[in-house]
Amino acid sequence: MNPIAVFDSGYGGLTVLKSIVARLPQYDYIYLGDNARAPYGNRSFSVIYQYTRQAVKYLFDQGAHLIILACNTASAKALRTIQQKDLPRWYPNRRVLGVIRPSVEALGQYSKTHHIGVLATNGTVNSQSYRLEISKLHNHLEVFQHACPMWVPLVENNEHLGPGADYFIQKDLQQLLSQSVNIDTILLACTHYPLLLPKLQEFTPPDIKIIPQGNIVAEKLEDYLHRHPEIEQNCTKNNQIKFL
Ligand code: DGL
Repeated sequence: MNPIAVFDSGYGGLTVLKSIVARLPQYDYIYLGDNARAPYGNRSFSVIYQYTRQAVKYLFDQGAHLIILACNTASAKALRTIQQKDLPRWYPNRRVLGVIRPSVEALGQYSKTHHIGVLATNGTVNSQSYRLEISKLHNHLEVFQHACPMWVPLVENNEHLGPGADYFIQKDLQQLLSQSVNIDTILLACTHYPLLLPKLQEFTPPDIKIIPQGNIVAEKLEDYLHRHPEIEQNCTKNNQIKFL
């Protein structure tokens, strides 16, 4: 089998895989969540690159021709180096894609005030990847970022819907929204955050849209597969999913 691979630092990427499988059920998939070493969000550039590179190599060895780095932190800190340094040496005809570019491409359509909030890990926020990509594609948008380092551990420890999560969710939302009263759209730029959606909706004013990435990434992947038959024809289609 040559499955489409989806990689994340832990459970969060399942929110992306779910949308991809709903849209493209015919393919085979392999999901790798690095729960043993999550969270990635506060780790250094070189550690995130090293961990992501190991995962990518492993997924290629499992037969994947196309790997989606569902993890924003890995997309921000490791994707480019893997694409430029490792891929040409390992498998020049295979592909590794991230989630930042497709998310930014879709972002233009949501905001009326042109003030966008981005919630992500420290690694993603500090990389400034969203700010840079948004300024290239939609320079009318003003970006306000905030890192929520407690949210991923809450999800990884299955405490995200418990009462203990409320304090951190309210505090972080307030810190984002206090940066501008005009924020009308919040991008959840971390795969783990959609698992907090019921609470995020409860604590966010109803006129603010909260955008998870799963459906955006799935739609862009479908488009990518149409545009790249040379990759698509190497993805097997038996509707099977393997979880690691
Ligand atoms: N879920 C990952 C992301 O999208 C990273 C979470 C973490 O491991 O800190 O950024």
